[in-house]
Parts: sequence; structure tokens; C-alpha cells
Amino acid sequence: MTQDELKKAVALAALEYVPEGEVIGVGTGSTANFFIDGLAGMRARITGAVASSEASAARLAAHGIPLFDLNEVESLSVYVDGADEIDASFAMIKGGGAALTREKIVAAVAKKFVCIADASKKVPVLGKFPLPVEVIPLARAQVTRALAALGGRPVWREGVITDNGNVIIDVHGLAIEQPVEFEARINQIVGVVTNGLFAQRPADVLLLGTPQGVETFS
Ligand code: 5RP
Repeated sequence: MTQDELKKAVALAALEYVPEGEVIGVGTGSTANFFIDGLAGMRARITGAVASSEASAARLAAHGIPLFDLNEVESLSVYVDGADEIDASFAMIKGGGAALTREKIVAAVAKKFVCIADASKKVPVLGKFPLPVEVIPLARAQVTRALAALGGRPVWREGVITDNGNVIIDVHGLAIEQPVEFEARINQIVGVVTNGLFAQRPADVLLLGTPQGVETFS
């Protein structure tokens, strides 16, 4: 099976976690796109969705799925999203698609985070995938110096502006043994909006696409 076929398989398996008559949280990326396309087939059974990016909002709207602003919603029973890496504790690196801040906010409101990922995303230690950090543009150089002092190799993702009008710095060369602490440490750097470690709020369920089928971990 190709990587895209694995992504599609986990995305469709996640439809089982969608409660009827509710607003659900929807993530960003190619795996989330397969989920959105699958959701279209059951749109009459959900009230609508909160999107974690403008791109996902546009895809949901194109399928006729009603969009809700997160401020209109008190809680979400489920949030479905992909990941760039996920470890055994379900801590993740996210933000390859630059949507990390909104993803983290929507995930924080959700009772259950269902991570949909192909098998290549499961890793023993987070950090081989460069860690995305969303930064206020004025603070780019100062945050770059602070991130280098933490031991990584920060690289500005030139030409990318997030949905929030900020820039992304990807930190290469990390081996993140203590993701909860590292997430907090990076967020303390002045000028950082947030970073792509999802360790303080990890996933609750992992649907992993393998050549043998979709494996469920919780
Ligand atoms: C976007 C994300 C995505 O979930 C992550 O990059 C995985 O993407 P894909 O499903 O395309 O592999 O965090 O900001």
C-alpha cells in the first residue's frame, strides 16, 4: 500500500469516532483531508465542524459542512487530526503544515483527540522531524538565537506565513526525551506563539495505518 492509501484508511476508520448531532474538531494536512472527504458522506448526521486552519475550513465548506467558530462552541467531544511524529506516550510533533497553533487550541477544547497517522509517523523518540515553532515576525532573530541555545538547529521556513500572520522556525537535530518539559521551555521564549510539541495535551487514541490494516491504540 502507498503512504496515501494508509492515510486514507486511517482517516476513514476515524469516522467511527464521529458522534451524531454534534460539532466536531477537524485538523489539517493530507491525512485530515481524507478525513474531511469521508466526513462529507455523513454530513447530514453532524451539526458541523470547527476547523484548525483556513485550508481545512475551505475544504469543509466545499463539501457543504457547516463551519463553527471555536468561540461559539463550549466543548467538542472529538478532535481528529494527523501528526508528523507520535511516540509511545502519544506525544506528537505537529505543524508540518504550519497550522500548529490553531490545532493546539482546538485540541485543547476537545475531550478526545483521535490521531490518524500512517505507520511511518510512529517513532521511539520525537525530534527527527524538525520541530515547528510559530513566532511573531518581529521576534524571529531573537527566538532563533534562543532556540539554538537549547541545542537544536533552527531554520526559518522562508515564504511561509501562518493563518495568524506569523512565521515558522523549524528546529532540526533534536532528540526530545522529555517532551512535556521541552514543550513548556520553548513556549517560555518571548516571541514564541506556540511550538509543535503536543505533549501536555497528547492524543487519546491513535489509529495507525499499517500494511496489515488499521491498528488502534488507546
Ligand atoms: C499540520 C499538521 C499535520 O497534522 C501534520 O503535518 C501531518 O500532515 P500529513 O497528514 O499531511 O502527513 O500538523 O500543521
